[in-house]
Amino acid sequence: MFLNRFSVTGIRNLHPVTLSNLSQVNVFYGLNGSGKTSLLEAIFLLGLGRSFRTGRMDTPIAYHQSEYIVFGELSREEDLDDTKAKVTLGLSRKRTGELSIRINGQNVQTASALAETMPLQLINPDSFRFLEGGPKARRQFLDWGVFHSEPRFFQAWKRMQRALHQRNSWLRHATLDRSQQEVWNHEFSLASLEVDTYRKNYLEVFRPVFEQVLAHLIDLKDLQLSYYQGWDKDRSLQTVLESSIQRDRMAGYTQAGPQRADLRIRMSGVYDAVDIISRGQQKLIISALRIAQGYLLRAKQDEAAANKRCIYLIDDLPSELDSYHQKAICQLLEQLKCQVFITCIDPTSLKNCWMDTASLSKFHVKQGYISQQP
Ligand SMILES: Nc1ncnc2c1ncn2[C@@H]1O[C@H](COP(=O)(O)OP(=O)(O)O)[C@@H](O)[C@H]1O
Ligand SMILES: [Mg+2]
Repeated sequence: MFLNRFSVTGIRNLHPVTLSNLSQVNVFYGLNGSGKTSLLEAIFLLGLGRSFRTGRMDTPIAYHQSEYIVFGELSREEDLDDTKAKVTLGLSRKRTGELSIRINGQNVQTASALAETMPLQLINPDSFRFLEGGPKARRQFLDWGVFHSEPRFFQAWKRMQRALHQRNSWLRHATLDRSQQEVWNHEFSLASLEVDTYRKNYLEVFRPVFEQVLAHLIDLKDLQLSYYQGWDKDRSLQTVLESSIQRDRMAGYTQAGPQRADLRIRMSGVYDAVDIISRGQQKLIISALRIAQGYLLRAKQDEAAANKRCIYLIDDLPSELDSYHQKAICQLLEQLKCQVFITCIDPTSLKNCWMDTASLSKFHVKQGYISQQP
């Protein structure tokens, strides 16, 4: 998708603005604290209904404002032609917590409809946490890919979550009703296996694409992606659940299952990549992971002739990267022909990164004001 027009009101230090001359590549530059990350956050909010900087829903709302509103007009065509089919997205969040989402003027209930319409990928300076932190972020990454490539995944995932929730509340009951045990184990196992199968299928297609993209950025042949399904791979989930009832009961929740899955990133099969390689190399791995998902999505969409490419948000590209690697990332994105929003402090640092400068727009961000530069 291409964002032709984007408006933001009431987010952090940004003054209300409508950006209507968006190109394939959009560079936002300015001093620290000028509002560059806030702009990417605003686009992210429109695509996901949540922030990448905070778990609190009200934090992005500008001080002294009661709500924020973001609005975007997207086209399915890469040439930003005004006459082509358009989709409009709007989202507002009040301090009281009230959320309203509209797609093409119609109210929708859940943010997943946004994610489906406007697939986003974010690369930012804290991406190293992706490798360093717990499995949640890596599982979300994997599920993003599965969600966009397997239409049945989301239903299966919801069913698995529901069964997990029911099993967990059953585990916390004072008296365990034996007849229910089988019911919940069975329902949870069934939904889990479906989720697990979709994840495995996706990874099989994803791995070679990732390896190719990574090789374009850096020579790390020992790097391997391995999948942990969330329980002992040599036993069925049903057996694991039956044998761990007492431990699950003590813990008060289900300890094995796809809710514990992880995408492990290792060197030579044994070392966690994060313990071995430099910050810059970590950023390249994460960029390769996210760009590979974009390539896979494009292949899928080309097959379906749907032309729904993802939009890249890249915060502070130059941090941790030398100019050679900055350029390598930009070239991959350029070949992908998807829209990019990129921030940096000094625009000259990205000067030689793009081959086709005709489809590049530059915006200066200064104390919350955004102005397009010639
Ligand atoms: N809720 C808020 N309301 C108003 N200003 C905010 C809010 N949250 C953060 N800020 C301010 O917004 C400014 C912009 O931050 P940021 O977008 O991170 O800048 P940049 O990425 O350009 O360095 C910061 O100076 C910060 O203090
Ligand atoms: Mg910033």
